[in-house]
Amino acid sequence: MPSLAYHDTAWAGGYHRHMTDTKTEPATGSRSGGSTSTTADTRPYSPGLEGVIGAESAIGLVDGANGRLLYRGYPIGELVEKGTYAAVAELLWTGEWHPDARLAPEPVPGPVLTALRELPRDASPMDALRTAVSVWGAMQRLAFPPTPEDARALTAFSPSALAAFGRLRQGLEPVQPDRSLSLAGAFLQQLNGERPDAAAAKALEAYFIVAGEHGLNASTFTARVITATRSDLASAVCGAIGALKGPLHGGAPSEVVSQLHEIGSPERAEAWIKDTLDRGERLMGFGHRVYRAYDPRAAALRKVAEGMAGMADWLSLAVKVEDIALRVLAERHPDRVLKTNVEYYTAAVLQGVGLPPELYPATFGLARHAGWTAHAIEQAGANRLIRPDMRYTGPEERHLPD
Ligand SMILES: CC(C)(COP(=O)(O)OP(=O)(O)OC[C@H]1O[C@@H](n2cnc3c(N)ncnc32)[C@H](O)[C@@H]1OP(=O)(O)O)[C@@H](O)C(=O)NCCC(=O)NCCS
Repeated sequence: MPSLAYHDTAWAGGYHRHMTDTKTEPATGSRSGGSTSTTADTRPYSPGLEGVIGAESAIGLVDGANGRLLYRGYPIGELVEKGTYAAVAELLWTGEWHPDARLAPEPVPGPVLTALRELPRDASPMDALRTAVSVWGAMQRLAFPPTPEDARALTAFSPSALAAFGRLRQGLEPVQPDRSLSLAGAFLQQLNGERPDAAAAKALEAYFIVAGEHGLNASTFTARVITATRSDLASAVCGAIGALKGPLHGGAPSEVVSQLHEIGSPERAEAWIKDTLDRGERLMGFGHRVYRAYDPRAAALRKVAEGMAGMADWLSLAVKVEDIALRVLAERHPDRVLKTNVEYYTAAVLQGVGLPPELYPATFGLARHAGWTAHAIEQAGANRLIRPDMRYTGPEERHLPD
């Protein structure tokens, strides 16, 4: 196994140390005669922790080879068809299926509203959401370990906070949640200041379910790392939002929307796709690090989009572009399975419910609250501080000039 090792070499007048790449050589000697100043680091290193198992979890299974996503054993398609976000979140938190579970939207407390009012209107909605969770956490005095009760309270608060910022950034006053609505429905109601269309609320609810949990991704890992220090749930979720904000994680379904706008009509699709690939650019909404099959979340959301009123033209364009894109990608990459990913039909659903594209990433964050908090609870239940090792590649001990 290749590794960097330090070798102490005695020479007249002192010790000289240097680093070499070696496969087997053990550390030898030391400056003081003890063993602490010599390191032979032969342990494997996996950049990005790829292939490293960082947790054991009973929450969700991402089966990339077979295109399956299970929450506590249940396929995502069934959960979207038969469940609500409240029931699915409860399932993730407790492992039990309560189809009648309710999660009433919580109003935004005064100090959180004050903080949101202080933000510049053009602040990123993701920053606003993180700020809101942080202020909320400061008011709650949450203790370790996190509980399903904490998870319910936070998950029920955050959509109201994001909706409040969604209005403030447009110069509008926040409105109180209608507690008779579902969480997704009340998010739309607080954003638009009116009761949402029932079909739109149901479609957004489906998106919340689909985006609720996805294994040990970067933000979920962040939430587990923070929880493992015995910190509180709001801190874990603030960190998770920070991780999700990065474009490599939070994705950009809004880019799928721009892509379809640019294509404009099915007749232009093939030429546009080929030109884009010829320029070395990627098609948004295709390919995935884990799935080597059609992303099951895209399949579930496509069904939802198909059932949405007013989507006919846009959806028929999306479906035709998808067919052409899949064919061209298969021709260009015969050895690599590149299928539709969740972002493609997320774009359809979020556009269909009338959400402004700037809110897409933070809305993803709202949906992922269920998964983040479920992982925090699970981590705390069998806790061990997460503290990986590091291979030092800097200079050997040296001394400042006299
Ligand atoms: C999601 C994504 C980052 C996963 O990437 P990955 O598993 O690391 O795959 P790689 O970057 O190693 O790509 C493997 C090959 O497929 C190609 N490829 C992957 N996704 C592609 C896409 N969407 N369009 C065109 N080509 C693509 C790459 O160019 C690469 O080709 P090469 O081997 O000839 O260089 C990638 O598929 C992508 O950029 N997709 C577009 C953005 C998107 O939809 N993101 C949302 C993800 S949920």
